Amino acid sequence: MSTAGKQKETPIKVDRYTGAARLNHWITATSLVLLAVSGLALFHPSLFFLTDVFGGGQITRMIHPWIGVVLFFSFLGLFIRFAGANLWNRSDTIWMKNLGAVLGNREEEHEELVEIGKYNAGQKIVFWSMSLLIIVLISSGLVMWDQYFYNFTTIEQKRLAVLIHALAAIVIICVWIVHVYAAIWVRGTIRGMTRGYVTGGWAWRHHRKWLRDLVTGKS
Ligand code: HEM
Repeated sequence: MSTAGKQKETPIKVDRYTGAARLNHWITATSLVLLAVSGLALFHPSLFFLTDVFGGGQITRMIHPWIGVVLFFSFLGLFIRFAGANLWNRSDTIWMKNLGAVLGNREEEHEELVEIGKYNAGQKIVFWSMSLLIIVLISSGLVMWDQYFYNFTTIEQKRLAVLIHALAAIVIICVWIVHVYAAIWVRGTIRGMTRGYVTGGWAWRHHRKWLRDLVTGKS
């Protein structure tokens, strides 16, 4: 944490993400976007034109599973970094019960809604949903990856994997939209993941317990 210059011109900066964590995050984010585009291109003939992004149908078919492998390992990096901070606790249940006040920007009405750790309950749900969906996507994807794994499963299993893969992909795209919307909606959040820091005001308003723990050296 650092303070510099006049309070009005230079707000207090609170470090939130290291350079390595941000790189890890943006590799994951880029992989998911590329997977969504290439996956949609292969999903329905009306979206086949999206294969142009990758240079044609064959290359899209070849590259899609490999980007999936990148996503898996990249997300594993995020998981190792952030799983601890996403563990569910009692205040998360209170947060969920008062979602109306949170969405209405009325957190200050309830003491429990402002004493939030590094992540709030909504972020934790997104985190665990992404973790689960990525496991489902990589497992079903491997069953469908005929070039290397054709002999390992039956045709029936492959058919089921296609269905599960498509459903999980649709759900993760929805979760991703929620994640991006929330990041934009809560002003000042994106800067944490681009420049690595947030303002003291942001931390006090949205993650007060996290800020207190930082100041007192607990985290
Ligand atoms: C491309 C659009 C994306 C944007 C604009 C974005 C933005 C952000 C921002 C601003 C944060 C910091 C939130 C905070 O500090 O409170 C964050 C955290 C995070 N993002 Fe993203 N993100 C994107 C895509 C993704 C994707 C595709 C994934 C995973 C599949 C992902 C996984 C995460 C995780 C795990 C965190 C840490 C938060 C937590 O552990 O709960 N993000 N993202």
